[in-house]
Amino acid sequence: MKPTETKSWQKLIDHQRVIARTSLRELFDANPNRAEEFSLEFDDILFDFSKNLIIEQTIRLLTDLATEQKLPEKIEAMFNGEKINFTEKRAALHIALRNLEDRPIKVDGWDVVPKVNAVLLKMRNFTEMIHSGFWRGYRGERITDIVHIGIGGSDLGPRLVCDALKEYRKPNINVHFVSNVDGLDIAQTLNQVVPSRTLFIIASKSFTTQETLLNATTAREWFLKNTNGNEKEIAKHFIAISTNEEACKAFGIPPENMFHFWNWVGGRFSLWSAIGLVIALYLGYENFLKLLEGAHQIDKNFRTEPFEKNIPVLMGLLCIWYTNFWKYNTYGIIPYDLRLKLLPDYLQQLIMESNGKRIASDGSEIDYPTSPIVWGRIGTDSQHSFFQLLHQGTHIVPIDFLACVEPEHPFTNHHDVLIANLIAQSEALTKGKTRQEVALELENSNLDPLEKTELLPHKVFPGNRPSTTILLRKLTPKTLGSLLACYEHKVFVEGVILDINSFDQWGVELGKQLAKSILKEIEAGKTSNALNSSTNKLLEYYLKHRKRYYE
Ligand code: F6P
Repeated sequence: MKPTETKSWQKLIDHQRVIARTSLRELFDANPNRAEEFSLEFDDILFDFSKNLIIEQTIRLLTDLATEQKLPEKIEAMFNGEKINFTEKRAALHIALRNLEDRPIKVDGWDVVPKVNAVLLKMRNFTEMIHSGFWRGYRGERITDIVHIGIGGSDLGPRLVCDALKEYRKPNINVHFVSNVDGLDIAQTLNQVVPSRTLFIIASKSFTTQETLLNATTAREWFLKNTNGNEKEIAKHFIAISTNEEACKAFGIPPENMFHFWNWVGGRFSLWSAIGLVIALYLGYENFLKLLEGAHQIDKNFRTEPFEKNIPVLMGLLCIWYTNFWKYNTYGIIPYDLRLKLLPDYLQQLIMESNGKRIASDGSEIDYPTSPIVWGRIGTDSQHSFFQLLHQGTHIVPIDFLACVEPEHPFTNHHDVLIANLIAQSEALTKGKTRQEVALELENSNLDPLEKTELLPHKVFPGNRPSTTILLRKLTPKTLGSLLACYEHKVFVEGVILDINSFDQWGVELGKQLAKSILKEIEAGKTSNALNSSTNKLLEYYLKHRKRYYE
């Protein structure tokens, strides 16, 4: 059912009008317990959602909406392996990848858990072989560099985790990520590694992705050119992670060098699968398991906690509240921690590829907004670029601020400054600065009266701009696992309420198809005129100047 057909929808529309008449300032002044009432702690995570435009009734109405949209039943369906990815007729079982208690989970009547455990064992053994030096390159040298080749979900999650948790890295192993088909990406990486000590991981769920296959082919050619050219040595330097065994074989990867996962793992939900092998190699298998454990804790919590105490559910509900009832159409992710600098990139795919949809479960077009546009950048840098708009612009952007209480470095004075800035920004967005406050400030300045009057409106901050703050006591594999699982489930909650399929991504297909046919024209060196005049002009311009460039 479309959410707009529920009883709660109209009630929320009315309720929004009531809340719009008050302000966050007033809400905080009226209730000294607000922060207590609107924050939750889970293990080492504090989730403070008190700076949102909500009262208790808002949460009640939003949870009613979730219930009307059958969220409890849908959560059970996901955990029980039902084919909730209805356009692809697949389960969405990333939770099975971190089901550390071995609860049986069946797909088509078969328990998937033994398969998951078998791959985990293979990952553990492989990781040990690399770390112990048992697995060596073709000249008998230890592997020192891992080049992970993948894109989208086969890149962003592992890249984020490896970058964020560098502190935990194993000695003498470097990782490099290559995703872009821009040849500079692979060229720069190959310049940094030595073939005899490098392991290439080709990570692709489908093993048909143009960018990944081209990068993998280039890496393979480079390897052969820079070694003895013996194809047999490939087995010591290339492994593949995929659901597509045949395509891996066709690429020349021997079966023992393949790590499997399954079509019930969505690409953007796959870092917990063998796609995360690079994480185990870089940080150690034990830390990969801790990452899974953190996610598993959240899975259990998500499945059992009442909605009003359930962090991922509340995250999803807040997003629906702003996108659908306040019509705020973007959503900012601002981590105040350099280690989380890739979080906005990762969440862009997770959220927008999942919920950037316009067709409901019954196939009809929908007439309400779905995913907000997700963007963001680390603080404090972002304060000096786009925060002007956040504070005084005409768009209102709900923000997730994130930070860690314990820094990784010894400069605790820096950390105090960083955290002071984070807290100040959320306070400033909430509170703003009124005309009276500005007038008072100006009164004490040396400006002449005319200047004071002219300047006054420019210095007013409307405030009342919502944000959520997530504080991790420490960034560890476990807390990061929990954090990422919260965002995964948040996305699912929104998808259920919006009555869309969060697990497919048909919208990426058209561009891929066209790129193939346009490439044919480029390779043939002439346009077919089958495309529109703009596209043809671009192609002609490219072909004309490309020739001149290469000649
Ligand atoms: O183009 C989108 C997409 O299909 C993503 O959903 C996926 O994560 C990415 O491409 C990579 O796909 P694959 O792992 O099959 O190479």
